[in-house]
Amino acid sequence: MSDKAKITFGEKTCELPVILGTEEERAFDISKLRGDTGLITLDIGFKNTGSTQSKITFLDGEKGILRYRGYSIEDLAEKSTFLEVAHLLIHGELPSAKVFEDFSKDITTHTLIHEDMKRFYEAYPSKAHPMGILASMVSAMSTFYPGSQDPNREAESINRTIIRLLAKIPTISAWAYKNSVGHPVVYPRNSYSYVQNFVNMMFSLPTEDYEPDPLVVDALDKLLILHADHEQNCSAAAVRIAGSSRCNLYSAISTGVTALWGPLHGGANQAVIEMLDAIHADGGGPDKWIEKAKDKDDEFRLMGFGHRVYKNFDPRAKIIKKACDGVLSALGVTDPVLDIARHLEEVALRDDYFIERNLYPNVDFYSGIIYRALGIPTDMFTVMFALGRLPGWIAQWKEMIENKEPIGRPRQIYTGAPHRPYVPLSKR
Ligand code: CMC
Repeated sequence: MSDKAKITFGEKTCELPVILGTEEERAFDISKLRGDTGLITLDIGFKNTGSTQSKITFLDGEKGILRYRGYSIEDLAEKSTFLEVAHLLIHGELPSAKVFEDFSKDITTHTLIHEDMKRFYEAYPSKAHPMGILASMVSAMSTFYPGSQDPNREAESINRTIIRLLAKIPTISAWAYKNSVGHPVVYPRNSYSYVQNFVNMMFSLPTEDYEPDPLVVDALDKLLILHADHEQNCSAAAVRIAGSSRCNLYSAISTGVTALWGPLHGGANQAVIEMLDAIHADGGGPDKWIEKAKDKDDEFRLMGFGHRVYKNFDPRAKIIKKACDGVLSALGVTDPVLDIARHLEEVALRDDYFIERNLYPNVDFYSGIIYRALGIPTDMFTVMFALGRLPGWIAQWKEMIENKEPIGRPRQIYTGAPHRPYVPLSKR
């Protein structure tokens, strides 16, 4: 097959080189198109536009394949740990035992946040959404480390910022929760693993002895792995685009947190549980909700269903659905919404509307049920997604900087008013 595509417009022809990916995916490079033909491409929502060439994550939406750096998500979720996966995504390889020991130690010794930052929590309203707190606290981190402002600094300095982000974001997140319930914050414990420490900061109280439940720790670790990267999704693209202006890494990550918060992206996990609770309160039958989701005059969508790239099944959803039963029964938790979710899925998957549009449960459909069983409050669900996605955002940012990618700056087709004369205020 030719390694060039040809576009003809009127008298003008442009030859576009074809780019081939590792898994035979093909794109043609349109960067010369405007110069040769005067045309730009228009693809609102980037539904068929590649923004970069990346070595981090491979995804085949038709076959339901997801791999980080070549390793399948199924293998990683079953056999690895979140910190190993973080190293894999950020540095390209699974760490050796020695490298992993140093990496973990480095993170563990940076988990404290500056005491002045602790005072910020006093100023947030008690009902503040923890994603709002997380986004602003991550951005505020840049003010505490002015030396980290320049993303083109030497590798050691960038690495320090990466370690600080991985180490401190669990502390910031757990403290946001403690703030919301009016409890004293719990300081990090260096003897704990990454996830154990987070669970301890979330749930331990000065009034009681507490030891993180290994079941909770393992389940959470797996969920974080499943969320760790997802190639050029909305928040990763936001991190890359913000970072392409060469703003500091803290600010780029804060952009990712904000993008993730929306209900069409990571915020769907909160929206799903709220939807399932509403269905439960309404009597539990799925039909009315399926009809609402299909009704074009109704804003309602079946949350946790559909995906921009998965058109067969979401492999993460498969793993989570399987884990759901195990986690709930191991913890001795019964949640009536689990049956409602299963029933809803069954009915939707038999319905022509969902079949024709390839709408399947996504990662967020069952994750909220597990989070709730683990004791995580609903408005912390998207924070959990952010904790998981953090290494992915860092890896995407690092790759963009290392590739010296230019500033992200899309074009547009202007459809507003043509040129018109200014009319002074007195004459309008
Ligand atoms: N319920 C009902 N209809 C839907 C749904 C849904 N959840 N999702 C898509 N559709 C319909 C949509 O109305 C459209 O129909 P038509 O062709 O008749 O206009 C068709 O399916 C294609 O949808 P789209 O909105 O053009 O697809 P998209 O690729 O732009 O959007 C999506 C993908 C995930 C935003 C969308 O499926 C959605 O809103 N899902 C619910 C929110 C959700 O669960 N988000 C989490 C995504 S997974 C976590 C993450 O990585 O972000």
